[in-house]
Amino acid sequence: MDPLEELKSFLRFPSISTQPEHAPDLATCAEWLWEKLTAIGLTASLHSTPGSPVVVARSAHDPKKRTVLIYGHYDVQPPEPLSGWTTPPFEPRIENGHIHARGAADNKGQILAHILGVAETFRERGSLPVNVIFLIEGEEEIGSPNLEEFLREHRAELACDLVAISDTAMGPGNTAALTYALRGIAAMELIVRGPARDLHSGLFGGAVANPATVVARLLASLHDADGRVLIPGFYDAVRPLQQWERAAAADLERAAGGDEAIKELAGVKELFGEKGFTTIERIGARPTAEVNGIGGGYQGAGTKTVLPKEAFAKITFRLVADQDPALILAAAEEYLRAQTPPGVLLEIVTGHSGAAYQYDPNSPDGIAARKALKEAFGAEPLLLRDGGSIPILATLKEILGVDSYLLGLANPDCRIHSPNENMLVENFLGGIRMNKILLQALAR
Ligand code: BES
Ligand code: ZN
Repeated sequence: MDPLEELKSFLRFPSISTQPEHAPDLATCAEWLWEKLTAIGLTASLHSTPGSPVVVARSAHDPKKRTVLIYGHYDVQPPEPLSGWTTPPFEPRIENGHIHARGAADNKGQILAHILGVAETFRERGSLPVNVIFLIEGEEEIGSPNLEEFLREHRAELACDLVAISDTAMGPGNTAALTYALRGIAAMELIVRGPARDLHSGLFGGAVANPATVVARLLASLHDADGRVLIPGFYDAVRPLQQWERAAAADLERAAGGDEAIKELAGVKELFGEKGFTTIERIGARPTAEVNGIGGGYQGAGTKTVLPKEAFAKITFRLVADQDPALILAAAEEYLRAQTPPGVLLEIVTGHSGAAYQYDPNSPDGIAARKALKEAFGAEPLLLRDGGSIPILATLKEILGVDSYLLGLANPDCRIHSPNENMLVENFLGGIRMNKILLQALAR
């Protein structure tokens, strides 16, 4: 079958992990993968978990060969806001060399590139140069709540020499890149509860603490005017940037076309961030606190003079090595509680978390990964630190004892998590080539 038609079939599943009503779509998407992996000659299995199924597939294992575990996720982010899409998110279409659909670049295009790279190698050589294990989960976008336990239970059968992942981006200008660091993440929601019910803002305003105002004050207390996080101890464990890393970041900044290109991608007129660091460093190498959502009180048309009974905010911290997500959440909670005025109750619910991940891009497997990228895309890959997170990476290292090499395929303008997500068809096809070369290069 035509690789693009196969990709379209994969993209038609609305496998949105955060919306419970889509559980059946996740299940059928996992079955589709199981069939695909079985059809290319692997032994595939579907494992149910309290959440979405995990798909595992393995080639016949030759004990003399090295073993590569390929990780990916078939779940996607919600497509909302739907009004931002030119065509419906789960009806893939190809336009100007891009395939558009939710999940195209995060992470279905890359998963299929892995699968087709393995399939073609099989077809052409009759065997694989390395043993391959696929581990494809359906809960990455919600912080992989069930994968750690799965890894612990299946640690023996998942034993491998390294992990290969294409769930990151190419470099600026869509050049080849090996990502050697990703930020970690720690999520929390804060809910401020005040009066027993919404009150008349004239009859009570001024005499009762307003939960929406309290939320605003708490959020405002997270940063100074330059965007530096004010939570005591927040930066204590941050591993300092090496000289070579600052040089690599400067190379990247040049390749990216400086701040102008980043403004263009973000759709802003000015950038804003912590003093003393370049934009590339702020994104890839510095921890942050971001408000993801805020709400409470009257949201309808016109005005309503009300003092809301409660308000909330959702926050995620992006972390770098060697910050501990649990310690950061605890420090944040203590800081926020200390500032909460009397008369309201602050409830803090912590969400998913995962530590930052970093490895040596100059290790023998790092060199092999760079060779595969170079041969597939025709340029010496840049080394980059990216700002996104794949929360399971630190756990893979802890449980399987191996490093994860991040061979990104997403084009810089892929709009993952946004409306009109897309993947360059060229990157998808180049990804198939890259995987074929990678399998050879890792055989050593
Ligand atoms: N594929 C991304 C991570 C990514 C994208 C890393 C581009 C580097 C460059 C992944 O699917 C993702 O979105 N992760 C979430 C994790 C969270 C929901 C727990 C993230 O980073 O927000
Ligand atoms: Zn994602």
